[in-house]
Amino acid sequence: MAPIIAPSLLAADFANLQTEVELINRSEADWFHLDIMDGQFVPNISFGVPVCKAIARHAQKPLDIHLMIETPELYLKVFQECGAYLISVHYEACDHLHKVVNQIKDLGCKAGVALNPHTPVHLLEDLISEVDLVCLMSVNPGFGGQKFIDRTYQKVQKLKEMINLSGSTTLIEIDGGVNHNNALQLLNAGADVLVAGSLVFKAEDPLKVISDLKKVPA
Ligand code: DX5
Ligand code: ZN
Repeated sequence: MAPIIAPSLLAADFANLQTEVELINRSEADWFHLDIMDGQFVPNISFGVPVCKAIARHAQKPLDIHLMIETPELYLKVFQECGAYLISVHYEACDHLHKVVNQIKDLGCKAGVALNPHTPVHLLEDLISEVDLVCLMSVNPGFGGQKFIDRTYQKVQKLKEMINLSGSTTLIEIDGGVNHNNALQLLNAGADVLVAGSLVFKAEDPLKVISDLKKVPA
């Protein structure tokens, strides 16, 4: 199956956001990946609810909202109201992750859990069958354009085994440093969704970049 491609608008031209959103609308991409940063959970601040709402007004594809924030449970409802299809919270930001995952689902959204590079996948063993997507961070969250961490391949493999054992249909998303050199190996290891920020938006021909990623055989 062709991978799900989720361009991250973090690398887009914020002064021309509508144009950037329309570019993704007419591309072969599947989702919009929106990176929300609070300056606490990660050492950077990106954008928040008003910008998400503005994006949602023009986006014609599902919104995949990645919350890199402390106490994400306080903000689930507002992001659902922004039109989120999927909301991911960080394992490292939730004391009561099982509860938060169910709160996301009760709002009618798909529930994702993101893991920082240092967090082992086995920590999700008792929750995996209830999670719609696991986002494996392949860079330390906070910034686009960073170098891919090679250890991610092994994490994808382990996670895939865990998902298969549990009999669930949880998707594996890779976020950070995705490029044409690592996409194939990631998909072979079991990844389903590739997030790409700078690769897409800094390219001369973003439509071709997306189309090429879509064609990587899984
Ligand atoms: C990093 C973000 C990523 C980032 C990916 O904290 O979660 O989604 O935008 O950007 P690239 O593809 O440039 O590494
Ligand atoms: Zn992200």
